[in-house]
Amino acid sequence: MNTQLPTTTRAAVVRTPGPEAVVEVVDVPLAAPAEGQVVVRVAAATINPVDVAVVSGFWHSVGAISQPEHTGIGWDVAGTVVAVGAGVTDLAVGDRVAGLHGGVDHPVGTIAEHVTLAASDVARVPDGLALTEAATLPLNTLTAAQLLDLLGEPTPGATLLVTGAAGAVGGHALRLAAARGWAVTGLARPSDRAYVEAAGAAFVDALPEAPAFDAVADTAVLAEAAVAAVVDGGLYAGVIPLAVPAGERGVRTTAVMASADDATLAHALEEAAAGRLDTRVHVTLPLAEADKAVRTVAAGGVRGRVVVLP
Ligand SMILES: NC(=O)c1ccc[n+]([C@@H]2O[C@H](COP(=O)([O-])OP(=O)(O)OC[C@H]3O[C@@H](n4cnc5c(N)ncnc54)[C@H](OP(=O)(O)O)[C@@H]3O)[C@@H](O)[C@H]2O)c1
Repeated sequence: MNTQLPTTTRAAVVRTPGPEAVVEVVDVPLAAPAEGQVVVRVAAATINPVDVAVVSGFWHSVGAISQPEHTGIGWDVAGTVVAVGAGVTDLAVGDRVAGLHGGVDHPVGTIAEHVTLAASDVARVPDGLALTEAATLPLNTLTAAQLLDLLGEPTPGATLLVTGAAGAVGGHALRLAAARGWAVTGLARPSDRAYVEAAGAAFVDALPEAPAFDAVADTAVLAEAAVAAVVDGGLYAGVIPLAVPAGERGVRTTAVMASADDATLAHALEEAAAGRLDTRVHVTLPLAEADKAVRTVAAGGVRGRVVVLP
């Protein structure tokens, strides 16, 4: 049975996006879930680079956001289901879940006390995995998996360069790619060597001077420079669909747009609970410090996720 929901909740939003924008925490209405939805009491939610781009006004500038009053931030969430809509049969009040609240054109995101999601966009968090850790996984693991899907199955011995290999998406891509059979090299900062090698990948801190890899998964957004690292006829998969670099020498180029996938997320959560997938928390901050959380990610050099605990 649904618990009595409050009629309002608190959420981090940006009213006037731009380089000097400030993230505010405001009261927003909280409605009962519609058919197929669940309301989650947020325990932990993370700031991703996409949130920085929302606050800076990038997504408004390309016409992707048309919120009249304010725009919410946050895609990743972990928490407890407090209400289920009609037709939701596989989740119940009290379930610990993690989920992906995709898209940028919302008045409220996951950086909030409550968030409403499609039940199909969440998965149960196994016992033994803390919600703070679970919140670091949805966007990054789904992006990494879907990025590698674009590259298809490797032929025996096929080589893959993952750029940004110590980043949130890149780190998951390293391990997933190795499991799929790629011979993986990670490009990261010199100080990230131990992390990359612990994932079983070879380490480089610069692109090769000549084409050297069958494929590149470019999570550092090195773009044309990374395409140049791919052998003739190879594959390049990026992370910015609005800016896919041109191919050359028969190299095919594409980019991922991550989407919710509860089965893949459930698998990632189980892998993390079993200790086979790393969950990295850079820092935790309270909801009142959501603005600082966004600035921390914007400043760069973050390893793991900045997690907001409402
Ligand atoms: N299309 C989609 O659906 C989708 C989904 C998720 C993420 N993304 C995008 O994917 C990108 C990565 O996201 P993320 O969450 O993994 O970010 P992240 O955790 O900040 O990781 C990016 C990593 O790349 C490293 N890097 C950048 N330039 C480098 C260089 N020249 N050499 C070596 N390392 C370099 C960064 O190091 P420093 O911190 O030291 O600079 C950082 O470790 C972002 O652009 C994000 O917007 C796209």
